[in-house]
Parts: sequence; C-alpha cells; structure tokens
Amino acid sequence: MRRGSWLQLIVIAIVAGVIATCVAIFVPWLPAPASRQAGRIWFVYWFATVISLIIFSIVAAVLAYCVINFRVKPGDLSDGPPIHGHTTLEIVWTAVPAVLVTAIAIVSAIVLAKNGNAGSNPLKVTVTGRQFAWTFTYPNGQTFTSLRLPLDRPVKLEITSLDVIHSFWVPDFAQKQDAVPGQMNSLVITPDRLGTYPVICTELCGLGHALMRSTAVVMPAKTYDTWYAGTTSTSSATLSGAAVFKANGCTACHTFTPIPGATGTVGPNLDNLKSYAAKAGQPLEAFIKQSIVDPDAYIAPGYQPHVMPGNFGTQIKPADLDALVQYLAQNAKS
Ligand code: CUA
Repeated sequence: MRRGSWLQLIVIAIVAGVIATCVAIFVPWLPAPASRQAGRIWFVYWFATVISLIIFSIVAAVLAYCVINFRVKPGDLSDGPPIHGHTTLEIVWTAVPAVLVTAIAIVSAIVLAKNGNAGSNPLKVTVTGRQFAWTFTYPNGQTFTSLRLPLDRPVKLEITSLDVIHSFWVPDFAQKQDAVPGQMNSLVITPDRLGTYPVICTELCGLGHALMRSTAVVMPAKTYDTWYAGTTSTSSATLSGAAVFKANGCTACHTFTPIPGATGTVGPNLDNLKSYAAKAGQPLEAFIKQSIVDPDAYIAPGYQPHVMPGNFGTQIKPADLDALVQYLAQNAKS
C-alpha cells in the first residue's frame, strides 16, 4: 500500500474512534457507582468498551476506505480478481479476538470473585420481597420498609420472597439478585457514596410490579450506629397498628389517609372500609380481619381477585394482626 493510502486509513480510524469515544463518554449510560462492587463492574464495562472502540475504529476505517477507493467504475461489468485466503491475516484476526475475549473473561472472573466476598464480619440484612413491597430485617429482629446502610462497611443481603419471584435491584449498586420463595440468595454491597437510591423490583411479579419500590439510604457510619441503637431500644413485643401496616408494605397497594405515603391504588381505598363492610354485610372488625387473612373472600367492586397475597394470616403475628384490625377499624372514615 502507498503511504497516502495508509494516511487515509489512519485519519478515518481516528475520526471514527473520536466519534465513538464521545458517544461512550458523554452519554450518561449508567448511574455513577455508589458501591465498591459497582466500581469494579464499571471497570469491566470500560475495559470491554475501550477494546470495542479500538476494534470499531479499525473496522470502520477499512470499510470506509474500501467504499471510497474500490468503487466500481461506471460501465465496468467485469469480475474482480480471484483471491484465495490470506493465511497471515486469518491467523491475526483469529488470534487477536481470542486474546481479547480471554482477557475480558479473566478480568470479569476476578471482579466476580471479589464482589462475592463479604469479608469476615459483614452486616447481615434479610431482604424480603412480597407482592408488592420490600421489607428489610436487621440482626436485632427489627423490620423496616427502607434499607439503611452504613458507609464503607460490607453488607451481606440475604434475599428471599414470601410469594412469587421478585428481583432486588439498586441501579447505583449495579447488581441484581432474584428473590425466590423458599430460598436465600445473597448479595454483597459495600456502599461507598452517601445518598438515597431507589430500590426497584426488576422481575415482573403481578399487577403492582411497577409500584414495588423502596429506597436505600447510605449514611455515615456514626449516624447509622445512632439510628440502629435507637431501633433496638424501642423494640417492643407488639407493634402499633400503623407500624404493622407499614412493615407489611400495605402502603404500596392501598390508600389510607391517616398514614403518610399510603397512596397505593392497586387495592381498594381503606378510607372506605365501613362502606365495604356494609356491602359485604359484615361487622366492621370481622370484615377487616377476613379481608387481611382471606383476601379473596370478598372482592370490592372494580378490583380483581388473587392480587393481594393470601399469606398475611401466617406472616403477621396474632397480636400484631389484632392491633392492625383495631387501628383500621378506628381510623376508617366512611
Ligand atoms: Cu416484585 Cu416485580
């Protein structure tokens, strides 16, 4: 090849490379990592992206060069020269991708092994998915509807489900893990950026799937310790009705004015429990208890059966269930 041809190829490759690099850098494809594991996953992405950018530049340059220089001349109907394989070229284009793919595999395996290692003393939090809410249970037995994590400490999430398959995902932590009934799946997270991040269910799990959201709050270690100590000292055998309501994720599906954040519309509006009980022809408290324990016994007009989980009767302790029924009966408006 002439020197001018090489120059042409190189210029096209540089232009293609710069354009593709700008697309990679200036489009915000992913949220900035908020955990050490996410940082490692970012490194793998960029490792593969840089390789892709180099290969793209070479392929685009050869393609554009051929289109420009080997165009058929007007009126030329002859065949091109017969060319048989080029052994050196074939060895190169087999060996180079093989080396690159192996390199990506090795980097990924190292990151996977590191990301799975929780160290000797992780904070253990049980994550429970149910239709359609997440709850988080800490070592002291306290359960919350949002996930609080201390900065820079490895956390081992033990993830399970009470009904169908859900999947736990915090985009800023980069990893996903399925929540499967009867099984504990684990996920290690070492948060390294303060902030509040969305917790998303990323497995289609029913009518309220899109509403199955929570938040993960990464706090300074001292703030976390103070909060955690507070939750231990206020521990009591029986929760208040409002606390039972929140801890079981009822807010995701039901509207109930006395509880801020209870604005769900998947299930009936609980402000109207009295009129529902009247329609069902039952005393208010008995109706409320039945509707929690056996939700398909009476379906409010305009709603579907089999949407509300049928296992709250076994998930909620009898004393807590009574507190919840009392609370709803006393605060229902009409
Ligand atoms: Cu739970 Cu989707």
